[in-house]
Amino acid sequence: MMMQTRTGLAACLALALALASVGLAALAQPASGPQSGIVFRNTVTGEALDTSQGKEGGRDTPAVKAFFESGKNLYIDDKACLRNGESLFATSCSGCHGHLAEGKLGPGLNDNYWTYPANTEDTGLFSTIFGGANGMMGPHNENLTPDEMLQVIAWIRHLYTGPVKDAVWLDAEQKKTYRPYREGETFPRDAKGQCKPLE
Ligand code: HEC
Repeated sequence: MMMQTRTGLAACLALALALASVGLAALAQPASGPQSGIVFRNTVTGEALDTSQGKEGGRDTPAVKAFFESGKNLYIDDKACLRNGESLFATSCSGCHGHLAEGKLGPGLNDNYWTYPANTEDTGLFSTIFGGANGMMGPHNENLTPDEMLQVIAWIRHLYTGPVKDAVWLDAEQKKTYRPYREGETFPRDAKGQCKPLE
């Protein structure tokens, strides 16, 4: 009996030590990726994300550079980017989150309730998409570039049905003209904007 308690205690100590060293390893991570002014952190663990990791490309567009510096998503009301975002969301996200991000296997993304309040900001949404969250919500940095993530984020924000006052991703001017998605709305292939049609 006594032996068992001792072994249990030793195992506990070993675990505590292991956890402590994981914590230290997280702290030892570089404060930021090579090109970012903002430090993106894993939504669940808080560990710094290395934005250079994952699917190649889509890191040197003006929009990604601006986003990594300021957290402002230049694609938010750009029709050409919304068109792409719709299609990327349909392929990568809607199976779990629903066609209109109304929620399915994963939570709804079109209202003002967030499991992780950081997702109220586009920087939080980016971190969740890039690094994942719990369970089925895996990281998506292997199948989407940062530029594509900004397009997906623009689309999610376009599907938003909550009060406009809570839409912190819009500036005062954008709030005035914000019109949420209407079922059946489409964006033509030749829509003018910053994003080229997807291949
Ligand atoms: C295989 C199913 C699956 C796929 C595919 C998926 N998700 Fe998720 N997602 C989930 C689940 C389940 C959760 C809840 C996880 C949690 O609470 O930690 C979640 C959570 C989230 C959250 C956090 C929501 C909140 O309330 O804070 C965001 C944001 C999100 N997903 C965005 C996306 C985007 C964008 C995509 C596509 C690039 C995507 N997800 C693809 C299943 C999925």
